[in-house]
Formats: sequence, C-alpha cells, structure tokens
Amino acid sequence: MRKIVIAGNWKMYKTRAESLEFLQGFMSCLTETPEEREVVLCVPFTSLELVSKNLHGGLVRLGAQNVHWQESGAYTGEISGPMLTEVGVRYVIIGHSERRQFFGETDETVNLRLKAAQKYGLIPILCVGETKAQRDAGETEAHIFSQLAQDLVDVDQTKLVIAYEPIWAIGTGDTCETKEANRVIGLIRSKLSNPNVPIQYGGSVKPENIDEVMAQPEIDGVLVGGASLESASFDRIVNYK
Ligand code: 13P
Repeated sequence: MRKIVIAGNWKMYKTRAESLEFLQGFMSCLTETPEEREVVLCVPFTSLELVSKNLHGGLVRLGAQNVHWQESGAYTGEISGPMLTEVGVRYVIIGHSERRQFFGETDETVNLRLKAAQKYGLIPILCVGETKAQRDAGETEAHIFSQLAQDLVDVDQTKLVIAYEPIWAIGTGDTCETKEANRVIGLIRSKLSNPNVPIQYGGSVKPENIDEVMAQPEIDGVLVGGASLESASFDRIVNYK
C-alpha cells in the first residue's frame, strides 16, 4: 500500500501570529481525518518552531521548504538539515519550480539537497514538472524524465515523496486535467526503482477539485499552495471524500 501524503506549501506567506491563527482553526478539523493520511505543513522558517510546538503530537507533520547540502558553513541565507530536525521538521520540499525559476536551483543542486535531506533524517518532497512551452512542444515526458534521471542519482527511494507540479497549473486556477495528471504520474512511477514512492499532484488544488484528484488511481496525495493558507479550505482538502 502506498502512503497518502497531503501537504500544504505556505511558500512565503504567514507571520508567526498568522500561523498560530491558522492552527487554532485547523487542528480541530482533524478529528475526522483517517489516520492513514499523512498531513504535512511546509511553513516558512520563522514559523517552524512555533508550529512544531502547537501540533500537539497529532496527525500533522512539520515540513520546511528548503535545505542545504552541508551540515554548516559559510552559506549566507541557507539552512541545514540538523537545524531543521532540531525543531521537529520531518519533511522538506526540494526542487520546487519557484526555486528552480527564481533562485538558480539546478538538477545538480536538487540532487545534493535530496541526498543531504535523507542523510539528516528528513523525507524530501521532490518537485518535478514542465512549463507551458514544454507541454505545447510535446516535451513534457522528456523533460520530466530528464529531471528524474538527474535528481534521483544515489537517492534512497524508500524515503522519498515526489510531487508532479505542472508549472502552468501553479497559482493559475488552471488545474491539470485529473486524467492527464494521473497519466503523467503513472509515467513517473514507471521510471522509479521503488513503485511504492508516494507521488502527489500539485497545481491549483482546491476544495472544488480535491475529490476528483484523489479518485485517480496513480495519485497518492497533493501538494497545495494557495488553498492551504485558509484552515477551512485545507480542512476540506485533507478530509477529501
Ligand atoms: P497552488 O496550489 O497555489 O497552485 O500552488 C501549488 C504549489 O506550487 C505547491 O507547491
């Protein structure tokens, strides 16, 4: 059985006060959530410790949005695995398209970060996906296969989550057709040595489409941006039917 992982990516949203306000609304929503669903909140660094202390050891796991490959060093603006695990972080998003697009993340640095995350006991959520131009040019599969081939070198596939996030569907309201997301995720799985890696879909997931997304046989969860910022909408997502 593959694990179901429902993760919120808060990106660069929420002060500590706003994070606390979210949790006060959200934690009480989880009483109905089936235990086999792993719920993850990937919050800004400044909110990690606060969120960690307010999870009450419950169903929610703490996630970060980046990790460096060294244990420590002169790397201004970066954060290391031990710094994250010290405050209770269990998951970390790596290779998100926003980091690849705006912060010079390459498949080489993604690979270094993935290996470091696992070395320090974190479960990486590796993001892959194509641009609109690549999709229109019929390059979706080749691009994703190339990302996987480079990103996963020497990565332990028993401690890994992958998120298929078509870049054109992120923050646009333009969700990928669920059957198409299911098809691409099946192709991603065919390239893995461990077929049990949970593979999520990400890109404009919201309360209105979560049931349809999760009904797809290859899709093992979702990585949610905008709709994870409001407790009511994330509640509906984690409690999909
Ligand atoms: P949206 O859900 O806002 O489209 O963002 C998706 C995403 O980038 C999650 O990592």
